[in-house]
Amino acid sequence: MNKWDQIFANNPQYKPLNEIFLAELLAKIKKDINSNPKKMVDLGCGTAKTVFQFSKLSFEVIGLDNSIVALKKLQEEIDNSQTKNISLINVDLNNYNLAIEADIFLCNFVYAFIDNKEFFLKKVAECLHDNSVFILITPVIHKGIIYTEEDKTKIAVDFEETLKLLKNIFSSIDVYHHDYISSREDYVTFLIKK
Ligand SMILES: C[S@@+](CC[C@H](N)C(=O)[O-])C[C@H]1O[C@@H](n2cnc3c(N)ncnc32)[C@H](O)[C@@H]1O
Repeated sequence: MNKWDQIFANNPQYKPLNEIFLAELLAKIKKDINSNPKKMVDLGCGTAKTVFQFSKLSFEVIGLDNSIVALKKLQEEIDNSQTKNISLINVDLNNYNLAIEADIFLCNFVYAFIDNKEFFLKKVAECLHDNSVFILITPVIHKGIIYTEEDKTKIAVDFEETLKLLKNIFSSIDVYHHDYISSREDYVTFLIKK
């Protein structure tokens, strides 16, 4: 059992993607990047509802995660719902040669846990085609802000360092700040193109 298997054995409830946010995001992607996205890869899917949210929108969905416990629970839900267009693969994104073609790659609340970030991002970059997009959603901390002890318990990555690394690897990055813990723009969605 890895660390995440132990966490998922206790049935944690992570928030699904906000439906309004998702609808706005997809509308933007359809307008600016790909008018008809069909295939989505959920990088670090866990047991989240995200795969179902996309499946209901007629996407072919692939969920990747390195927790066998999470994938087993999610597979049970998929089987019970008789959803046909979702497949799951057990991989470690720290060393997995992604090599999957898709229109949307989503990584929600996972990036901070990946040790080999540069490798991971380069593998995603290799998969992107001209009309595909990488949606990276992550809690961030900003330099110069003093965080409370409670804030520090939330897993986050340094915003400036993350943006710098992304700019080294990808050509186009839009940044959307959200307020999550407080009103300090501590959650970010990066909308990234090849
Ligand atoms: C906080 S959960 C988020 C799950 C889901 N994306 C969501 O929005 O609820 C973090 C997920 O990242 C996965 N994860 C962490 N490190 C990973 C790695 N190296 N490779 C694949 N998955 C990983 C964990 O197993 C877990 O499912």
